[in-house]
Amino acid sequence: MTSQQSEEPIPPSTSEERVVPRYRKLHNEDPFDSRHLPLLKHELGPEEFARWLSYREDYASFRKGQARGAKGELKSRPGTHAVVDGPNIPATPPRTDSPFVAALTLEEAIIGLFKPPDPNAGKASMGLEARLQNELGVVESNFLNEETVTTQGVSLEDISDRFRKSHVPAEMGSVDTYMASFVTNTVTDSVHCNAPSMIGHMTMSLPYYIRPLSKLVTAMHQNNVKTETGKTTTFIEREVLAMLHRQLFPQHSDAFYAEHAHNPGTALGLVCSGGTLANISAMWLARNALLKPNEESGFQGAEKEGMMRAMRHYGYEDAVFIGTQALHYSMKKAADVLGLGTHGMHCIPFDDEYRVRLDLMEAEIIRCQENKFAILALVGVAGATETGAIDDLAGIAALGKKYGIHFHVDGAWGGPCIFSKKHSPKMKGIELADTVTLDGHKQLYTPMGCGLCLIRDPDLVRFVQKTANYIIRKESFDTGKFTLEGSRPANGIFMHANLEVLGVQGYELLIDRSCRITRYMADKILACDEAELVVNPQTNIMLYRFLPKALRDVTRAGKLTEENNLEIDEFNRVLQNRQKEIGTSFVSRTTIWSPKYNRDVVALRVVIANPLTTDADVDTNFNDQMAIIRDFM
Ligand SMILES: Cc1ncc(COP(=O)(O)O)c(C=O)c1O
Repeated sequence: MTSQQSEEPIPPSTSEERVVPRYRKLHNEDPFDSRHLPLLKHELGPEEFARWLSYREDYASFRKGQARGAKGELKSRPGTHAVVDGPNIPATPPRTDSPFVAALTLEEAIIGLFKPPDPNAGKASMGLEARLQNELGVVESNFLNEETVTTQGVSLEDISDRFRKSHVPAEMGSVDTYMASFVTNTVTDSVHCNAPSMIGHMTMSLPYYIRPLSKLVTAMHQNNVKTETGKTTTFIEREVLAMLHRQLFPQHSDAFYAEHAHNPGTALGLVCSGGTLANISAMWLARNALLKPNEESGFQGAEKEGMMRAMRHYGYEDAVFIGTQALHYSMKKAADVLGLGTHGMHCIPFDDEYRVRLDLMEAEIIRCQENKFAILALVGVAGATETGAIDDLAGIAALGKKYGIHFHVDGAWGGPCIFSKKHSPKMKGIELADTVTLDGHKQLYTPMGCGLCLIRDPDLVRFVQKTANYIIRKESFDTGKFTLEGSRPANGIFMHANLEVLGVQGYELLIDRSCRITRYMADKILACDEAELVVNPQTNIMLYRFLPKALRDVTRAGKLTEENNLEIDEFNRVLQNRQKEIGTSFVSRTTIWSPKYNRDVVALRVVIANPLTTDADVDTNFNDQMAIIRDFM
């Protein structure tokens, strides 16, 4: 209570209805503060005051997380209601006939959801939050130890039927009830992406420390758009960017990092929520740098004047970027949002190893220039989503240099190969890229929601800089000046933790191990009669297909007809669906051009990057598939 408030004369009350709002007005900082008791006694009269005291006692134990008795039973009092959540508590907090208590009960129930844990509660405390954490911890542990990939016999339609509501519940619900239904309806049938036999997608186990760390990060609830809400985490992010930048572009000096790592006016990269956003950010930088302001003519650049005027100003007929047919579809989104249209993504055929044909890329550059097309960027892929192929990055860099075009590398998947002495030579030329996409939540083992766009020349960000008067002022350290997203989680923390804990050594070991196991699987397929390799792995993605028994000899003899190939396609489609339904192991499926058959073929796709996956899991997958073929096909 402020001194000004305490000096205010207290008018006599005539009813509870009048007391409540006035009480709130005077004491909105904490109605349970014992300093208010004399005032309340005066306001409420003896009977209601006694009820208030009783309610207050329950509330105090709720706040301390001690609202249960010694045997765990709920403690509540007749006429008043502890605002606790437990198995026996109705969904809506109970109300009394007193508007005073009713109002406070509901409000306090809601506000109570936001209270921090009691710092004085010992470890043994069964406070609400600690209890919930214990319960969810058991669910978490069971989930993580589950070996199957999906629950058998639960279809997407079944799941969809669970979530058909279209009204927000009118009344407050119970936390326990919600959590119980979340576990039943969501957790139980979620995909165990961490299962060692899940070798079909780019999602895998995380280091153990990430789980408790993520709880702390969530509790800190920092917003990295600006230092006023991300005071320390902004700089952690800048350190992450400096470390990854140096790993990618080792040609820079200590002085370079001293100048740029914490420079409010430049950035070594942009942290965002994933590879898609990182790719869009890279194309955004490339576009604004190409269609930049022109002081002489007073043209203010595409950033301010937009694409239409920029094209007119520079005399361009069209705007494009050029990459391979293996570009990830996120690049289509980039072409769309940046005003190129998806036709502005020019895709060059790849060679027999799924690497972009440089001769055709150069021919396309010349054709575009002759037709007055603005070429925003040449895009190379380091670890293509479907094949794991790594383009000839040095070759693309040379074209970029020759024709003065921005060079971007999409290393969302394969970028971390830079940590491996064995595999980094395949990435030669990445150090010449203007921008590089990395995905934290892929082979850098952070939780979902972490993409990075690294920028070789930190001054490039000036072409996208935005400021506001209330935050992200020009001279500030705020990263929100440059990022496409505004409010952002401080997900760079996980990247920071992994870089510090795993280090180059850890990442190198993980990459080498994944590639080795993928090679083991490829050799197994090469050695067997039942299947054939479709894409020989360059790193840790490979494609193969099973052959129906009747077609194995014709396949070996190289005499497959178009009809045979259609049959094999269908065979693999059915096989993959069946394996997915059974759920003990998983590979994904794609349709890809095969140089061997000179046609598109349906292939089973294996992605091995889960540190828990072993050769034995590869064998299990193969045996599961053979069992399906034997029993069902
Ligand atoms: C090569 C490549 N680039 C970009 C992306 C998009 O990343 P995200 O899903 O994190 O947006 C992916 C995702 O699989 C990818 O494989």
